[in-house]
Amino acid sequence: MRRVTLTQYLVEQQRTKGVVSAELRLLIEVVARACKSISHAISKGALAGILGGAGTDNVQGEAQKKLDVIANEVLLEANEWGGYLAAMASEEMDDPQQIPNRFPKGEFLLTYDPLDGSSNIDVNVSVGTIFSVLRCPEGVTNPDEKAFLQPGSKQVAAGFAVYGPSTILVLTIGNGVVGFTLDRDLGSWVMTEPKIEIPGDTQEFAINMSNMRNWPAPVKRYIDECLAGKTGPRGKDFNMRWVASMVADVYRILSRGGVFMYPTDAKHVEGRLRLLYEANPMSFIVEQAGGAAINGLQRIMDVQPTKLHQRQGVILGSKNEVELIGRYYAENKQ
Ligand code: F6P
Repeated sequence: MRRVTLTQYLVEQQRTKGVVSAELRLLIEVVARACKSISHAISKGALAGILGGAGTDNVQGEAQKKLDVIANEVLLEANEWGGYLAAMASEEMDDPQQIPNRFPKGEFLLTYDPLDGSSNIDVNVSVGTIFSVLRCPEGVTNPDEKAFLQPGSKQVAAGFAVYGPSTILVLTIGNGVVGFTLDRDLGSWVMTEPKIEIPGDTQEFAINMSNMRNWPAPVKRYIDECLAGKTGPRGKDFNMRWVASMVADVYRILSRGGVFMYPTDAKHVEGRLRLLYEANPMSFIVEQAGGAAINGLQRIMDVQPTKLHQRQGVILGSKNEVELIGRYYAENKQ
């Protein structure tokens, strides 16, 4: 069987379909290469002395892990010299990072969460990297926060890596969703899922049940009905999964369907997840795979961001279920 690598896939998308430019192709390849180094570092774990806290807090006031800081540095260094970026923004940096003057500047903006699910690092559970690519607004030469405040519908590419039993890269360039597995012997990303599609229906949901007392009424209604099982209004039993790494939960949904929810609630009034480098890239991927992504009343990718590190309620996954939850929100508002 012919094995298609990430490079071959991107060259083909550039040459025959015209969906990526040479600059965007380079950007994606460099990010994917950085994910390989992060995967390598994570796999060494305690042997390399990289587990545990870094002793610092990020802009959100969350304690940074050593690997959060390492992964952020790997992505920064990998992406500053290529000439395709105008600036980058990360969960781990207060402000956008400008491209040093010694390097040429390009047309794209990159946002990323270098290590998603980092509370799972020290317990050897899957973590990942999420990224999103936007175009730098025309005429902007030194992009500040404002340049990044674009709705998710403007993304030109998005992807995520999962550092799990195997290392997986999921990618969309707006032409469906493809998946690659890292072949450590060859050092390359090999396409293992040429067309990822989320089943429209599901019997599985993912939510942190410890927040139940804080949930809004539509979420409580939906989960209550799932829990009622065969004899309840849904007429079927549901299963629950919660890895607490969005990358792993979303990858499961891409593989076999399901709904992932981190809604706004009485404790997380603005939501828990970040819009620009978590909710938007995941929404782009999920929609490209035939699923849906809303914050309750609105499609996530239509939300106009007002802050770089803005949070957002997230409900995404199998289309029919997400639409049902959306209807519960709409009815609740009436
Ligand atoms: O960065 C956010 C994150 O780690 C996600 O990957 C995950 O889905 C969520 O937080 C887990 O939140 P909680 O710890 O509340 O279950």
